[in-house]
Amino acid sequence: MKIINVVGARPNFMKVAPIMAAYPSEPSIQPVLVHTGQHYDEKMSDLFFRELGIPEPDVNLEVGSGSHARQTADIMVRFEEVVLAEKPDAVLVVGDVNSTIACGMVAVKLGVKLVHVEAGLRSHDRTMPEEINRLLTDSISDLLFCTEQSGMDNLAKEGVDPGKCFMVGNCMVDTLLKNLEKARQSKILEQQGLDERGYAVVTLHRPANVDSEEVMGRILLALTEVQKDWPIVFPVHPRTRKMLEKPALAKLVAAMPNLRLLDPAGYLDFVRLCDGARLVLTDSGGIQEETTIMDVPCLTLRENTERPVTCDVGTNVLVGRDPDKILAAYRAVMDGTAGKGVAPPLWDGKAAERIVPILARELG
Ligand code: UD1
Repeated sequence: MKIINVVGARPNFMKVAPIMAAYPSEPSIQPVLVHTGQHYDEKMSDLFFRELGIPEPDVNLEVGSGSHARQTADIMVRFEEVVLAEKPDAVLVVGDVNSTIACGMVAVKLGVKLVHVEAGLRSHDRTMPEEINRLLTDSISDLLFCTEQSGMDNLAKEGVDPGKCFMVGNCMVDTLLKNLEKARQSKILEQQGLDERGYAVVTLHRPANVDSEEVMGRILLALTEVQKDWPIVFPVHPRTRKMLEKPALAKLVAAMPNLRLLDPAGYLDFVRLCDGARLVLTDSGGIQEETTIMDVPCLTLRENTERPVTCDVGTNVLVGRDPDKILAAYRAVMDGTAGKGVAPPLWDGKAAERIVPILARELG
């Protein structure tokens, strides 16, 4: 049984790594790895393959950046040729990026079964490109693997056959637990002159935050206060870098002596940075999950989250983009009044080990 596994953008790599590693337990499955090339920079892609021991992709579609329509269409045209040549029994996609829906659509239209890992998550905010990708991918998938109960509940509400849905845990957490000790060998704290629990980490890349000068400016105002207490380390996504070059924002950044803008960090360095931080401020989905496992306070600079379990049992607090609200939540962390986290059910490092036997059984 041949399964094409698709990766495209940075957060896909840590989800596919444990699945690729678990395939040998089911010798009936012949995995093929396709990289769409949605992310292509050394620091956004190749570095993750090396650090996570992901095999070289069998095919790289090299689509690169573009508008949503162009990027999605380019992936579809190029992926169709691969599916026609490889004749797989199934295509497995992860997460919610453009590569996920593009390859999903190609598969089902060629009559190939579609598997979605990280199904059912919903922010209920249709202005997010990822929400559209999630809704569409789930609606055409044959097997849906969920990371948290809210995902199972959302799929049930949308009328998805419960026989196709499986609560398996979280592949991103598989990768985190496998690599945490290795990440702790990273020298990034020493290189940056940072003390354990003596700094904050920031990441921002959501279009709703970083494509608007006004919103980005309000977030920077909050950071202006935080950096008075200690250093802020900010590995900057390429999308965000462009906005920070605008004169008004560049001025705000220049006025923050304790804000350190870094290039995008590799996986191990980034995990080490979060693991040693006093708190993390982010708009990422995956980092809400990773900080929950590392038990590091996370302030999510968004109005909603598709990962509610990280707020229910984890360390995550949704704080929006209003500087006063961000600072109030920040002070609660500093006062020690913010909650502590526990791992959500099945976030135990064994999600991929659960997924692969189900694939063999259900697709066989
Ligand atoms: C994409 C995903 C988002 C995910 C994020 C993680 C979609 C719709 N969005 O957003 O869900 O959270 O990845 O990073 O799929 N660029 C580079 N080098 C690269 C890749 C991109 O410089 O290797 C720059 C390009 O200028 C590009 C911009 O970043 O135009 C945005 O890249 P794109 O893949 O379109 O979306 P992301 O913002 O990365």
